[in-house]
Amino acid sequence: MTPKTFKIKSFGCQMNVYDGERMAELLGGRGMSAARDGEDADLVVLNTCHIREKAAEKAYSDVGRLRREDGSKPLIALAGCVAQAEGAEAQRRSPMIDIVVGPQAYHRLPEMVDQVVHGARPVDTDLPPLSKFDAFPQRRRANPSAFLTVQEGCDKFCTYCVVPYTRGAEVSRPFDDIVAEAHQLVDTGAREIVLLGQNVNAWAHDGRGLAELIRTLAKADGLERIRYTTSHPVNMSDELIAAHAEVEKLMPYLHLPVQSGSNRVLKAMNRSHTAETYLATIEKMRAARPDIAISGDFIVGFPGETEADFDATLQIVDAVRYASAYSFKYSARPGTPAATMEDQIPREIMDDRLQRLQARISQHSLAFNQSKVGTDTRILIERKGRHAGQMIGKSPWLQSVHVDTEAEAGELMDVTLLAAGPNSLTGAALWKAAA
Ligand code: SAH
Ligand code: SF4
Ligand code: F3S
Repeated sequence: MTPKTFKIKSFGCQMNVYDGERMAELLGGRGMSAARDGEDADLVVLNTCHIREKAAEKAYSDVGRLRREDGSKPLIALAGCVAQAEGAEAQRRSPMIDIVVGPQAYHRLPEMVDQVVHGARPVDTDLPPLSKFDAFPQRRRANPSAFLTVQEGCDKFCTYCVVPYTRGAEVSRPFDDIVAEAHQLVDTGAREIVLLGQNVNAWAHDGRGLAELIRTLAKADGLERIRYTTSHPVNMSDELIAAHAEVEKLMPYLHLPVQSGSNRVLKAMNRSHTAETYLATIEKMRAARPDIAISGDFIVGFPGETEADFDATLQIVDAVRYASAYSFKYSARPGTPAATMEDQIPREIMDDRLQRLQARISQHSLAFNQSKVGTDTRILIERKGRHAGQMIGKSPWLQSVHVDTEAEAGELMDVTLLAAGPNSLTGAALWKAAA
């Protein structure tokens, strides 16, 4: 029977969230509708992430849990990076999976659903560069802060990472397509656009770079804020840094993963930057935009990491004074060079280092947030908070700000920041900004 309702569950990075939205639009364009909360869906899409530990096992157990009490099951599509990595093997391991579709092939999802209805069990893990974007319908309803993928894939081959294998080679979408999609997003409710790519600052098309794309988008009426993520330190061009000084709509926030503060470890990771070149980039950025909030990613317990290497990581955290940062225990990914390196670090040591690193990052996050207390700033309201009458918005520095207000999602409002924790702030309404 042809499915009428669907549910898409996205895991992992923002690019998967974007992909999930596009799949929903595709299925919607074929007359299907999203299942309501708590309602059983005829089609369930698990849009998976393969970046860290037990990703595949988790996906298979998620599939298993889709069996209903009466023994029946929805039509199941395994999508995303686990689908790419597992391919047809997925259906051998779990016969419940009807469709396997990789991150560059999901524009074929509606057609694959038809094939299942006719008794097939299609698998598509081709990596054709970007053809999926041509197959998508127009954007229909955007969040106040909307994602827009501009670049896909990665050629960097950090020795720990699966992304170059699951997303394919680095490819940039054409300039005009991105500008057109940005306008559709603004027309359907976006006030902020977050440009996405695994290496977003490597975006380049017809001799233009990300800075020029941002300058063009900044001219769009109705678009108030621009952000981009994730950047690689080696692609942080002077033009992009200069844009932070000059483009008012470009928010003072930069996510620039460093992974480790030890040059020995960075080399083994194949990161192609050192602690010194990374710090020099941060310094240039701060010269251009003194209030910029820096965020990052860290891996602890990379094979061979000594206590001295880890200490260098703590030192770089202190040197940068991160406004926020994500940190992870190293996870050996099958097929990556680091997985077979000698001197894998025992779990207890990783746990201990992660705890110490997170405590250090948290001190800096708290200090950064506290430095804003007592100041006035403008937030973009994004969603309802936990208490009645409370809304959550984002500051220019991407801090979550809780505020009691009647303002609705999508409105900009001016607030005084009253109190800060490591993860959020509380604000009070000043007045409603002209929307
Ligand atoms: N392209 C981005 C993000 C890649 S994935 C970048 O280069 O930074 C997001 C983060 O996951 C990485 O920055 C890294 O910190 C973490 N990560 C990737 N592979 C990992 C692994 N095998 N084990 C632990 N963390 C990993
Ligand atoms: Fe992975 Fe490195 Fe590419 Fe980032 S730059 S996606 S960490 S290989
Ligand atoms: Fe995960 Fe794939 Fe994103 S592995 S982090 S969903 S690119």
